[in-house]
Amino acid sequence: MKLSQSAFLAFAASALAAPSATTPQKPRQASAGCEAAVTLDATTNVFTSYTLHPNSFYRAEVEAAVAALTDPSLADAAAKVADVGTFLWLDTIENIGRLEPALADVPCENIMGVVVYDLPGRDCAAKASNGELAVGEIDRYKTEYVDAVAAVLKAHPNTAFALIIEPDSLPNLVTNADLQTCQDSADGYREGVAYALETLNLPNVVMYLDAGHGGWLGWDANLKPGAEELAAVYKAAGSPSQFRGISTNVAGWNQWDLTPGEFSDTSDAQYNSCQNEQTFVETFGASLEAAGMPNHAIIDTGRNGVSGLREEWGDWCNVAGAGFGQRPTSETGSDLADAFVWVKPGGESDGTSDETATRYDSFCGKSDAYKPSPEAGSWNQAYFEDLLKNANPAF
Ligand code: BGC
Repeated sequence: MKLSQSAFLAFAASALAAPSATTPQKPRQASAGCEAAVTLDATTNVFTSYTLHPNSFYRAEVEAAVAALTDPSLADAAAKVADVGTFLWLDTIENIGRLEPALADVPCENIMGVVVYDLPGRDCAAKASNGELAVGEIDRYKTEYVDAVAAVLKAHPNTAFALIIEPDSLPNLVTNADLQTCQDSADGYREGVAYALETLNLPNVVMYLDAGHGGWLGWDANLKPGAEELAAVYKAAGSPSQFRGISTNVAGWNQWDLTPGEFSDTSDAQYNSCQNEQTFVETFGASLEAAGMPNHAIIDTGRNGVSGLREEWGDWCNVAGAGFGQRPTSETGSDLADAFVWVKPGGESDGTSDETATRYDSFCGKSDAYKPSPEAGSWNQAYFEDLLKNANPAF
């Protein structure tokens, strides 16, 4: 190709201004972890010094979603979701294998978020997330699951980890003790959670135990029993040094500080003073303190961008019309709230809407639930696109 001199100069200028296909891209992060071992101080808010890591597992899901967009005009916005810090769920023994590769690109300034989620008799009050371990398989939980997770964390002493321990488990023991399934699961939940807290109490780790949300343990009658249930397990674990407090709103839809609150005009609202997550964190936090347990909190804001979608506060499955919420930040405006974080990976389903499936739960068939939806944890492309379109703040 022969260029005139002016054309050549124009070409050279544009080549300087915009990177060409051959311009080396800055590597995302070649090195894993810090140069020395990480020691986290769980008496402080580690999220003020570490950024929640945008993990490569979710990045791959989002990149596949970008390639499959039904509306290509969403591409630029969709690609940005991959850069948001999000927790990685270890929901089966096999899926512990997702952790090691996801640690290859965690820079020293980031903290890797991991959800520990495989108790025997899991999801005792619902069906959608019933797990692989049956009630009674506590030894398998300890040796094949918790010990295996601990081994990976120990093999990466130079990486910082934030763990969320067993979403929904202890809250179910507080409010669903009338169900036979939860009665059957109770001993294994208490023993399993205590074992996880004890075994994962490593210097490079901070731990948060799940406490449901304001519409769950926030009811007046549940505050004290809830705090006592969590505190008893924390103490049974030997009051571990790396324990920081609770997670709330995991995979949930509640607003942080909406006042008077999304469900404040319902007939029973007088019995729940925790009408948003901020009041829950503060009110339940006081109960935790009284029960003798550390009470700082992280709050899942991954999918709470839109309010007013649920018919009832307890509706939890693939709420239709939802949008991505506040991006992870340690600027919460509350001393007890360490950070807003993304826990539920937006785009992964809460449960199937297929009524013939073994794990079909009627909540996933309610009129405010998005349909069709695949099995819990599986990708729902259409739902991801809706979360993006309804994101608040927008991408
Ligand atoms: C599912 C898990 C999944 C997690 C994150 C849970 O509801 O049961 O399988 O890993 O959500 O999407």
